[in-house]
Parts: sequence; structure tokens; C-alpha cells
Amino acid sequence: MSKQIYIYRSFERFWHWMQAILIFLLAATGFEIHGTITFFGYKNAVTYHNIAAYSFIVLIVFAIFWHFTTGEWRQYMPSRKNLRAQMDFYLLGIFRNAPHPTKKTVLSKLNPLQKIVYLGLKILVIPIIVISGLMYMFYRYPQGSSIEVLNIHSVEPFAIVHTIGAFLLIAFIVAHLYLITTGSTPTSNLKAMITGYEELEDEHDEKVTGAAALPLRKKTEPETLS
Ligand code: HEM
Repeated sequence: MSKQIYIYRSFERFWHWMQAILIFLLAATGFEIHGTITFFGYKNAVTYHNIAAYSFIVLIVFAIFWHFTTGEWRQYMPSRKNLRAQMDFYLLGIFRNAPHPTKKTVLSKLNPLQKIVYLGLKILVIPIIVISGLMYMFYRYPQGSSIEVLNIHSVEPFAIVHTIGAFLLIAFIVAHLYLITTGSTPTSNLKAMITGYEELEDEHDEKVTGAAALPLRKKTEPETLS
């Protein structure tokens, strides 16, 4: 039997959508700075890119705090269980109406492929973009007092690394937009990230440990995992 389960809490949804907006703005302004598109005008694009970049860093700080205080970081621990089955599903099964090999639960929201990809984004791609972006901003800072700590002679290496990071993130977003349509219905994943609720199998067969033992709420009456 399936029922409406509260799977994405309010901060998680806020973080997800803010991140989506900021990355979209950073990509649009970044590629204007790069010279690929023209929309805001170069000067405005630089100003908006800087504002969005600082906002993104603030959001990341809050998200790190939230992940550690709620125990949600455990969701991203990679696992080889069902990895092959999940790959087969995306390559073949999905086109033959095969069932999803991994069951989504409050304690395990991500399938094994998502765990690897999201962890890679968190510990590799996003840090690369943020660090190269900050180096790009401050590579000649501070100079007023002649402490030329970061006085590297060309900004080019940072621009290249930053742009590679941007392409990786955009590749992820393209795949992500396709994959969100592959839930139990084409819009079920999207609805869940908007409302917090998703229709899931009524199974409580996972062992609840530590801070990951999150409250499991039904739409009508509150309920706790035991
Ligand atoms: C905290 C995060 C970020 C920081 C601190 C940052 C910082 C910067 C800075 C300082 C520049 C150079 C602006 C100038 O020339 O005046 C830049 C350029 C750029 N940024 Fe970002 N950025 C961040 C995130 C992103 C993201 C998420 C994307 C794309 C998804 C992105 C894409 C680009 C691109 C494509 C360029 C142009 C590179 C070039 O060809 O020179 N940035 N960024």
C-alpha cells in the first residue's frame, strides 16, 4: 500500500529552489562574462554574478549546517548495493516499463547512482566552482598594503577551471531535469520538492539510527517512526 509521506522538509525545499535559481542566474551571467550570450550587458552581468555568488556561498554555509545538525548528510554515503541494477534500469528497464530497483524512503531518499553523483557535486564540482570563483575575484588581493599573497600573474588558470566546473554543473542539471520526470509519474518528483509530500510505499523496514531517525509525517495525522 502507498500513502502520502512527508519526505522533503521546508528548509530542504527552500535550499533546493534557492540553489536552482542562483545556479541559473550564475550560469546565465557567467556565460555572458565568458562571451557566449548577451542579455544583461557585460557590466551588469559581472555585478549580478558577484551578488549571486555571495548569496550562493551563504546558502551553502546554511545547507552544510542543516545537513550536519539533522543527520541528512548520511543520505549521501555511497553504496554499491543495487548500483548495477540502477544503471541497468536507466539504460534499459526504464524504456520497458520495468519497476524502479530502489525504493525511496524517508531514510533513503536517493538511489545508489544519485548518492554518488550528488556526493561528487558536493565535495568536488561545487567546491571547484566556488574556490576557482573566489580565486578569480581575489587573485590580486590585497594589494593596497603590498601584501601580494595571491599575486599570480594571470587569471587564466582560474577562468579555465571555473568554466570547466560550470560545464560539469550544467551537464548535471540537464541530466537532473530529465531524471526528475522518471519518478512514479512524470511530475511526482517535482510535486514532492514543491509540497514536501510524495506518494511512497508504506514500508518501515529500515533500521532507524541517530539523528537520521527523522519524524515521518502523514498528510492527515502525525506519526513517528518506531
Ligand atoms: C560562489 C560561486 C561563484 C563565484 C565566487 C564566482 C565568481 C566568478 C568571477 C569572479 C568571475 C569573473 C568575473 C569577471 O570577469 O569580472 C566568474 C566568471 C564566470 N563564472 Fe562564476 N562564480 C561562481 C559560480 C558560478 C557558477 C555556479 C557558474 C555556472 C554554473 C559560473 C560560471 C561562470 C562563467 C562561465 C564565467 C566566465 C569565465 C570566463 O570565461 O572568464 N560561476 N565567476
